[in-house]
Amino acid sequence: MRKKIIAGNWKMNMTPSEAVKLCAVLKDLVVNDDVDVVYCVPAIDIVPVAEAIKGTNVNLGAQNFYIEDSGAFTGEISAPMLKECGVKYVIIGHSERRTYDNETTEKCNLKMKALLVANIVPLYCCGESLETYEAGETKAFVGEQIVKGFEGVSADDAKKVVVAYEPIWAIGTGKNASSEIAEDICAFIRKRLKKLYGAKVANKIRVLYGGSVKPNNIKEYLSQPDVDGALVGGASLKYESYKELLENIL
Ligand code: PGA
Repeated sequence: MRKKIIAGNWKMNMTPSEAVKLCAVLKDLVVNDDVDVVYCVPAIDIVPVAEAIKGTNVNLGAQNFYIEDSGAFTGEISAPMLKECGVKYVIIGHSERRTYDNETTEKCNLKMKALLVANIVPLYCCGESLETYEAGETKAFVGEQIVKGFEGVSADDAKKVVVAYEPIWAIGTGKNASSEIAEDICAFIRKRLKKLYGAKVANKIRVLYGGSVKPNNIKEYLSQPDVDGALVGGASLKYESYKELLENIL
């Protein structure tokens, strides 16, 4: 059985004081050990949030890092730095970073390897544009993101990676993919992983859906056999919606 994950992606929201306030009110909600709850927070919030979630089973996640451990890379933060602050997950390949920061699949592959060396779980996002979806090329596109993203990653390491299928047309649009589409592509991703690593490893890798996940649709996704959780943007930012979201799955 794969343990479910609900990962909140706060994106560029929440000042440190706002982040601590939200953690304080969410604290009591997150007490169930059946689900891994993760908050992927802006870099500036990592230290205060690490403190604010102490004693809870919330896991700390980051949204970006640089592949070198240290050196003359002005403005960057390394995986060992994140690790020391208690970060357990880092998002890589999010479509916003692919679009605005030229985070290519080749870069994602390097980032995946650097995170695995640092003993941090890569939360690897993949997903197609509306154009690709409408052309019926989703599987070819996502399949390539999987194969190239995992290139050179050992089976032992691959097991630790979490993949998130996030169709770009569903992110922040309110137009969530149906649970059938989510299941179809998440199952396809597992099939590709099976080809790369065999069934035993592929059946251990958790595959999430992301894109306009809300309290009223989360249950549908989680009831699909190949959807192991969700990456949640907008609905992870407000106490009420996060509360409802957790109540609907726990
Ligand atoms: P959304 O974002 O839930 O606001 O659509 C999801 C994401 O970008 O991870």
